[in-house]
Amino acid sequence: MLDIKNLSVRYNSAGRVVDAVRDVSVHVEKGSFMGLVGESGSGKSTLMMAVLGLLPKQTEISGELLYNGSDIIKMSEDKMRDLRWKEISLVPQSAQNSFTPVIKIKSHIEEVLNIHSNKFGEEAEKDVIRLLGEVGLDAGIKERYPHELSGGQKQRAAIALALACSPALLLADEPTTALDVIVQAEILKLLSELQKRKDLSIILVTHDLPLAAMVCDRLIVMKDGMVAETGTPRDIINDPQHPHTKELVREMFRERNQNNG
Ligand SMILES: Nc1ncnc2c1ncn2[C@@H]1O[C@H](COP(=O)(O)OP(=O)(O)OP(=O)(O)O)[C@@H](O)[C@H]1O
Ligand SMILES: [Mg+2]
Repeated sequence: MLDIKNLSVRYNSAGRVVDAVRDVSVHVEKGSFMGLVGESGSGKSTLMMAVLGLLPKQTEISGELLYNGSDIIKMSEDKMRDLRWKEISLVPQSAQNSFTPVIKIKSHIEEVLNIHSNKFGEEAEKDVIRLLGEVGLDAGIKERYPHELSGGQKQRAAIALALACSPALLLADEPTTALDVIVQAEILKLLSELQKRKDLSIILVTHDLPLAAMVCDRLIVMKDGMVAETGTPRDIINDPQHPHTKELVREMFRERNQNNG
């Protein structure tokens, strides 16, 4: 479904050059739940923005980003617009803060349905209720303003928004950051259920290795813009190869022991 080959991304802003992604190759199979793990600044969000064709203009990008065989890097903006929301959709980092405060939840979702699925009026409203249901929210939430939702509810609403046009691939950038551990687990469970129920492919972006290991069937560990390691959670936790992954796994067991002690 998604084949990233030797991708490099270099930001060029205000005379500063940053090699945010360096020679990254990743293969995402249809129906998989992939975890993209790495510390802050390792290039996770940059990689996701590249997949969506949303990098700033002056950015240098090389390599291939094949989505069902077509290279996203070479795609026209029109073609890309067809792909976003309907094929590949993003739950952005800090999604909870990305809702406009004075706009009701339903209007946020309806706007996406209007623009990208050409659905209006009753048809759109029906979809809003269905989408809220799919993420475990009551229909009544649609009449609320963003500040009237808890953090976990807002995150669910952000997922509903991303699902509005029935994408095949969902990119979820740190969807559980800033939530308490119980709500984190609920959001992960939701993503996992959605992945199975809708035959959705998901890339979960997180700095939290244990969290990704809980739900993902494959992990990619990034460090300094490069792929340090890929494998199943079991392989990576039982037998990490890269020094950085070894450190992450040690850290994971240290925390676990502290919590148990
Ligand atoms: N628009 C931009 N212009 C210039 N540099 C950028 C831009 N966006 C990100 N960077 C730089 O690229 C590198 C990778 O950033 P990125 O946001 O992809 O990391 P990340 O892994 O998502 O980090 P975090 O976990 O903190 O979200 C960092 O050095 C960052 O400062
Ligand atoms: Mg990020």
